[in-house]
Amino acid sequence: MAFPVQRPRRLRANPTLRRMTRETQLSTDDLIAPLFVQTGENLRAPIATMPGQFRFSPDTAATEAHELWNLGIPAVILFGIPEGKDAQGSGAHDANGPVPQAVSRIKEIVPEMCVITDVCACEYTDHGHCGILDGESVDNDATLPLLAKSALCHARAGADMVAPSDMMDGRVAAIRAVLDNEKYAAIPIMSYAAKFAGAFYGPFRDAADSTPSFGDRRSYQMDIANRREAMREIALDIEEGADIIIIKPALFCLDIVREAREAFNVPICAYNVSSEYAMIKAAGERGWIQEDQLIDETLLSIKRAGADLIISYHAREWAQKQK
Ligand code: PBG
Repeated sequence: MAFPVQRPRRLRANPTLRRMTRETQLSTDDLIAPLFVQTGENLRAPIATMPGQFRFSPDTAATEAHELWNLGIPAVILFGIPEGKDAQGSGAHDANGPVPQAVSRIKEIVPEMCVITDVCACEYTDHGHCGILDGESVDNDATLPLLAKSALCHARAGADMVAPSDMMDGRVAAIRAVLDNEKYAAIPIMSYAAKFAGAFYGPFRDAADSTPSFGDRRSYQMDIANRREAMREIALDIEEGADIIIIKPALFCLDIVREAREAFNVPICAYNVSSEYAMIKAAGERGWIQEDQLIDETLLSIKRAGADLIISYHAREWAQKQK
C-alpha cells in the first residue's frame, strides 16, 4: 500500500529525525590527505591549479602532517618531486629523495600517523611515463623491478604502507615478493587497482611535474568506458596480495565503487582526484557554488557509494570545519 499510508517525508520532518535516519556518516577517520614533497628546507610553495595545496619540503611536510593528525586525520599519502629525472626513473629508489626523507621526518614527529607512499615512476622519469620505455611504449616487465625497489626504499625509510599507482600488470606481486624477502611482510599494499586514463589528473601533473613528454597513458591506465574490466583489475590485484584497493577517479567511478563494494571484501579506497578538487575550487572562487556544502556532499557521496577510505585534497579543510 502506497500513499497516503506511505509518507517518506515523515522521517525528514526535523533535524533530529533526519539525524536518526541518516544512513552514512563521514568521519575524519575515513580521510587520507595527499602531500607533495620536494627536496629543500622550509618550503610551502602554493600550487597554482590546486588552490590550498602546497609543495612541501620534508620538514614542513612533517609540520603539516602533525597538524592533520591533530585534526583527526589518520593518514597521509606522499608524492615526490625529485631534483633530477632520468630515463630509468632512478630517483624513485633514492634513499635521499624527498619521499624517504619526508617519511622519516613525519615518523619522528607523529609516529602514530599512517604514512603511505605513492609508488610510481612518472615523477622520476624524464619522459614522464609511469615506467621504463622500450621505444615509445612502456615495457611492463622491465618496470616491475623499479617499482619493487621504490617500494622497498620507502619501507626502509619507515613508510607504513605503499600504494603503487603505475598500472603495470603484476606489480602488486612483484612488490609483495620484495617486501617479504626483505622482512617487510607486515607492510600492507594499497594498490591503485582500477585507475582510469583521461583528463582527470591534469592539476596533479602540474603539481608533480609529471606530464608525459609524448603520448598519453592509455596503454596502461584503463578506458573510462570499462566497468567489467575494472572488476577484473581489482580481482587480480587482490589475488596478487593487495590489502586495500583504490578506485580512481572517485566521482567519475561511483558505480564502480559500489560494484566493488558488493563483490569484494577488502577495504575500498576512492581517490577524489585533482581535477575534481580544482573544479570545486574554481567554481567556489567565482561564487558560483556553495563550496563548503559541496565539499561535504562530495565526500559523503563517495562514502555512500561504498568507499571505506577517501584520499582527498579537501581532507584538511573538511576536518577543520568539524572542530
Ligand atoms: C602517479 C599518480 C598520479 C595521480 C596519483 N598518482 C598521476 C597520473 O597518473 O598521471 C593523480 C592524482 C590526482 O590527479 O589527484 N602515477
